[in-house]
Amino acid sequence: MEWKWEFSRTARRVKSSAIRDLLKLTQQPDIISFAGGLPAPELFPVEEIGEAGDYVLKHEGQYALQYSTTEGYRLLRRFLAKRMTQKGMAVDEDEILITGGSQQGLDLLGRLFLEEGDWIVSAQPTYVGAIQAFSAYGVNFHTVPLDKDGIKVELIEEAVKEKKPKFIYVIPTFQNPGGVTLSLERRRNLVEIARRRQVPIVEDDPYSELRYEGEDLPTLKALGGEVVILLGTFSKIVSPGLRLAWIAGPQEVIEKLIKLKQGADLHTNTFTQYILYQFLKGGGLDRHLKVLRQEYGQRRRVMLEALRENFPPKVKWTTPQGGLFLWVELPPGVDASALLPEVVKEKVAYVPGSAFYPNGGGENTLRLNFSNASPQLIREGMKRLAKVFSAKIP
Ligand SMILES: Cc1ncc(COP(=O)(O)O)c(C=O)c1O
Repeated sequence: MEWKWEFSRTARRVKSSAIRDLLKLTQQPDIISFAGGLPAPELFPVEEIGEAGDYVLKHEGQYALQYSTTEGYRLLRRFLAKRMTQKGMAVDEDEILITGGSQQGLDLLGRLFLEEGDWIVSAQPTYVGAIQAFSAYGVNFHTVPLDKDGIKVELIEEAVKEKKPKFIYVIPTFQNPGGVTLSLERRRNLVEIARRRQVPIVEDDPYSELRYEGEDLPTLKALGGEVVILLGTFSKIVSPGLRLAWIAGPQEVIEKLIKLKQGADLHTNTFTQYILYQFLKGGGLDRHLKVLRQEYGQRRRVMLEALRENFPPKVKWTTPQGGLFLWVELPPGVDASALLPEVVKEKVAYVPGSAFYPNGGGENTLRLNFSNASPQLIREGMKRLAKVFSAKIP
């Protein structure tokens, strides 16, 4: 007799995506990949993390290997509260929850706010992992386009009035995938709209510490205080394998999230929290950020140069001041997914932009990552990419 599984509605909603299948193509070992969002592995602070790990095991092993509190290691939360406060965000350690990556934070926020049929407002394109996390709850995306100054905030208030979204999800600084940054004026307006219309903002902020040119801007959290829930992560600034991130929000929100997280995993890995704290306490983060800014800044420059020198004139791209990505627009009618197999034959890869469109579209766009490959490989990979594009784009 054939077994028939009765999956939940949530599970039935989770679809395998055509893009994911396509991206399997790009995982061959000899490929120059601009596809993932991976940090440069050769820059990981392996030695310092090793020393921190040795210290923790020697001096704190009985705590670090034990169960711990759901909200996270107090000293780590205190460190984050202090760092955020220094950046103009008045956050207390009780307003911080440590999570297993920001991806878990997105899922927990989904559990906290979203019901089937609800609306959320997001940019288009937006982070594919957020589309995945929120879609599991059966929500609708009202999408708002981006330009060089980030999400078009002037289109948001009308949408909020009409759709009554549960929250506005944005990545204001060095957006994934667009590479663009929300201007100060738009930041102020967005926070105003959120206050006036009483709709929270979820500010996803993995990249603001990775600035290579220009001046820092205040986060939405700094401008909006209690109307903003901020997601921060150590994935791009220390190591994604540690799976350590945080949510900063009003205490009432954090208390609810703690209860939801308890049911999910009891707490984030105690051992990695202790190791990371030891690394942070010794000043490791700022030392490491210096290295990353220098190196990724150079990789970004090399990629932009290659675009200018080798790409057909009808191709457009964004010029990010930080982060890990830039966004490329091919002429209308050219399909970046259809071109990918040919690009992969040349041993190079990108992510077709349509992956980042919650409601479809963006076929002529693609995302390029510049943090993972060395400058030399970026030059070579971009030449190969230009060869394929030049043959296809008149
Ligand atoms: C905008 C955005 N949010 C969240 C994440 C997930 O990060 P984490 O590794 O902390 O789960 C990423 C990772 O690429 C991201 O780009």
